[in-house]
Amino acid sequence: MVRTTISQLLAAVTLLSKTSAYQQRRYIDNSSGTPEVIVPGASSYNGLNLVPQMGWNTWNAFHCDVDEDLLLTTAQQLVDYGLRDLGYNYISLDDCWSIGRNLSGYLVENPIKFPSGMPSVIARIHDLGFKFGIYSSAGLFTCGRYPGSLGYEKEDAELWASWGVDYLKYDNCFNQGQSGTPKLSFDRYNVMSQALNQTGREIVYAMCNWGNDDPYDWAYTIANSGRMSGDIYDSFNRPDDRCPCTEAPGCAWPGFHCSIMNILNKIPAITSRTMSGYFNDMDGLEVGNGGQDDNEYVSHFSMWAINSSPLMIGTNIGTISPANLAILSNPAIIALNQDPSAGAAIRKWRYMVDPDDYGQGEIQLWTRVLDNGDTVIALLNAGNMTRMMNATMDDIFLDQRTAGAYRAPPELSQTWDVYDLWANRMTDQEAGAIINGTSGAGSNATNPRFNATATSYAEGLRNNATALFGSRTGSIAPSGTFSAEIARHSVGVYRLRSQGNTSTRKRDEL
Ligand SMILES: *[C@@H]1O[C@H](CO)[C@@H](O)[C@H](O)[C@H]1NC(C)=O
Ligand SMILES: *[C@@H]1O[C@H](CO)[C@@H](O)[C@H](O)[C@H]1NC(C)=O
Ligand SMILES: *[C@@H]1O[C@H](CO)[C@@H](O)[C@H](O)[C@H]1NC(C)=O
Ligand SMILES: *[C@@H]1O[C@H](CO)[C@@H](O)[C@H](O)[C@H]1NC(C)=O
Ligand SMILES: *[C@@H]1O[C@H](CO)[C@@H](O)[C@H](O)[C@H]1NC(C)=O
Ligand SMILES: *[C@@H]1O[C@H](CO)[C@@H](O)[C@H](O)[C@H]1NC(C)=O
Ligand SMILES: *[C@@H]1O[C@H](CO)[C@@H](O)[C@H](O)[C@H]1NC(C)=O
Ligand SMILES: *[C@@H]1O[C@H](CO)[C@@H](O)[C@H](O)[C@H]1NC(C)=O
Ligand SMILES: *[C@@H]1O[C@H](CO)[C@@H](O)[C@H](O)[C@H]1NC(C)=O
Ligand SMILES: *[C@@H]1O[C@H](CO)[C@@H](O)[C@H](O)[C@H]1NC(C)=O
Repeated sequence: MVRTTISQLLAAVTLLSKTSAYQQRRYIDNSSGTPEVIVPGASSYNGLNLVPQMGWNTWNAFHCDVDEDLLLTTAQQLVDYGLRDLGYNYISLDDCWSIGRNLSGYLVENPIKFPSGMPSVIARIHDLGFKFGIYSSAGLFTCGRYPGSLGYEKEDAELWASWGVDYLKYDNCFNQGQSGTPKLSFDRYNVMSQALNQTGREIVYAMCNWGNDDPYDWAYTIANSGRMSGDIYDSFNRPDDRCPCTEAPGCAWPGFHCSIMNILNKIPAITSRTMSGYFNDMDGLEVGNGGQDDNEYVSHFSMWAINSSPLMIGTNIGTISPANLAILSNPAIIALNQDPSAGAAIRKWRYMVDPDDYGQGEIQLWTRVLDNGDTVIALLNAGNMTRMMNATMDDIFLDQRTAGAYRAPPELSQTWDVYDLWANRMTDQEAGAIINGTSGAGSNATNPRFNATATSYAEGLRNNATALFGSRTGSIAPSGTFSAEIARHSVGVYRLRSQGNTSTRKRDEL
C-alpha cells in the first residue's frame, strides 16, 4: 500500500472510483487526524478488467485452423444463442493468423485466412457488439512458429492499436532463454505492457507464461491476468507426464496436457494473488469438446467461475450440444465469476477417498465471501462414487474464527438460507430450442435469461435479480452442518444468504 497526502487526493479518488465499494470502505482512513487516503497498491494497473474477462477463444477447439469466416460466424452464433449477452464479449483469435513481417517490420495477416484484411474483420466484430483479441508470443516465434513479438513490441502494439484490437493474449514460446528468474520474465513481459500502454488504446493484457517464474507474485503491476499452469487438456483428472507439476509455486516445467483437477489443485496456494484487475488464469474452457461427461464439465465450469478465472469458451459453437450450452449459460454461476469482490475461493479441506480410475479420488470444500455478504460454498466430489458431503459452519467460517484475537464469529450465530446455484439450469429442451432458433434466445421464455449487456452482474446482484440466485433448498441453523448428495465427479455450488440472528428472529416470530 502507498500512503499519499491530501495533495494527491484527486488522483487517488479516480483510482478509488474504479475499485469496489468494499475496497473503498476499507481504504479511507483519517485516524491520524489529517484526512489521508491509503491507495490500494494493487488494483488494476491500467484501470481495465476489474472482473475477469469472458469470451470465446479459438485455440482449444481449432488450434491453427482459423480464418475470418470462423470468427464472424462464431460471433453471430454467440449473439443468437444469448452468450454475448450473458457476458462472453471477447472474440479472441489465437495463434497462426500471420504470415510474417513486411520490410518495415510490421506483422502481416495471412491473406488466405483473412482476405478482407484484419481491420475490416475487427470492425465487423465490433459491430456485432464484441471486443477483439489478438495473440502473440514474448519470443522469437509464437508456439505455432509464426513470428513472435520479442524485439518488435512497439511495432506490434502500434499495429494492433491501429487495427482496433482490445485484448492481447501473450504467450511464452521461443523466449530465447529470457526466463528462469522472476526478474527476467518480468522485464520481458513488461516491454509489451509499456508498448501497449503507449499506444493510448485500452488493451487488456493477458499474460500466458504458464506460471513460469511465479507471475502471480509480480505480474499484477503490468498485466490484467496471468496463466498459472501449463496448458489445459480435455480430461477431468488423468495425470500426464507432460504436465509434471502438482503445485504452482516454483514449478520449473509447467508443460501441457494438464487436467482439470491438476490445474484446480494448483490454485489453493496462490488464491491471495487474485485481485480486481489481475486474475489467475486457469486456461480456456474445455466445456463442449467431448473429453468429459456432463458432471465433469459442470465441475470444471463451476470451479473456474468461483476462482475468478477468465471464462473463455473454447469449443465449436456451431456444433455445441444443448447440455453444454446450458452449462455455459448458467447466470447464477457466472455471477460468482463476475462478483465485484474479484477474489478467489479458499479450499477449506481436501480428503483422499475411494480410488478413482487413475489411482486416487478426493473430495474438497471450497468457500468464498462475496461482495454483498453472501458466502458461496462448493462441495466437490472427485471420488469414484456418489456420496453425501458435509460442510460444517465451523469449516465454512474457518477464516472468521481464526482472524486474530479470538472472538466468536457472528456468522456462527446466524441462520443461513441455502440457494442451489445449479437448480435452475436450462433444460436440454430449452437449450435445444435456442440452438434451433425457435425460442428468441429466451427473451420471452417463461424463465427469462439474464442479460448482462442490459444490466451488469454487479447491478443484478444489488437488485437481487432472481436469475442470479438459483433456487432455495433449505437453511443452515447456527453452528449447523449443510449436507448434500453429490454425484461422482460433480460439484454442488450453493449461495448462503444470512437471515440474521436466529435468536432475534425467533423472538420476532413468537
Ligand atoms: C473521519 O472523518 C469523519 C468525517 O469528518 C468522521 O465522521 C469520522 O469520525 C472520522 N474517523 C476517525 C476514525 O477519526
Ligand atoms: C508494413 O505494414 C505496415 C502496417 O500495415 C504498413 O504501414 C507499411 O506500409 C508496410 N510496409 C511495407 C514495406 O509494405
Ligand atoms: C497507461 O498507464 C497509466 C499509468 O499506469 C494509466 O493511468 C493509463 O490509464 C494507462 N493507459 C492505457 C491506455 O492503458
Ligand atoms: C469406480 O467405480 C466403478 C463403478 O462402481 C467400478 O467399476 C470401478 O472399479 C471403480 N474404480 C476404482 C479404481 O475403484
Ligand atoms: C456426511 O455425514 C453423513 C451423516 O453423518 C455421513 O453418513 C457421511 O459419511 C458424511 N460424508 C462424508 C464424506 O464424510
Ligand atoms: C431442434 O431441431 C432438431 C432437428 O430438426 C430436432 O430434432 C429437435 O427436436 C429440435 N429441438 C428442439 C428443442 O426444438
Ligand atoms: C417468442 O416470441 C416470438 C416472436 O414474438 C414468437 O414467435 C414465439 O412463439 C415466442 N415464444 C414463446 C415461447 O412464447
Ligand atoms: C440484451 O440487452 C441488449 C441491450 O438492451 C439488447 O440489445 C439485446 O437484444 C438483449 N439480448 C437478449 C438476448 O434479449
Ligand atoms: C436483496 O436481498 C437482501 C437479502 O434478502 C436484502 O437484504 C436486500 O435489501 C435486497 N435488496 C434489494 C435491492 O431488494
Ligand atoms: C446476534 O447474536 C449474538 C449473540 O447472541 C450477538 O452478540 C449479536 O450482537 C447479534 N447480532 C445482531 C446483528 O443482532
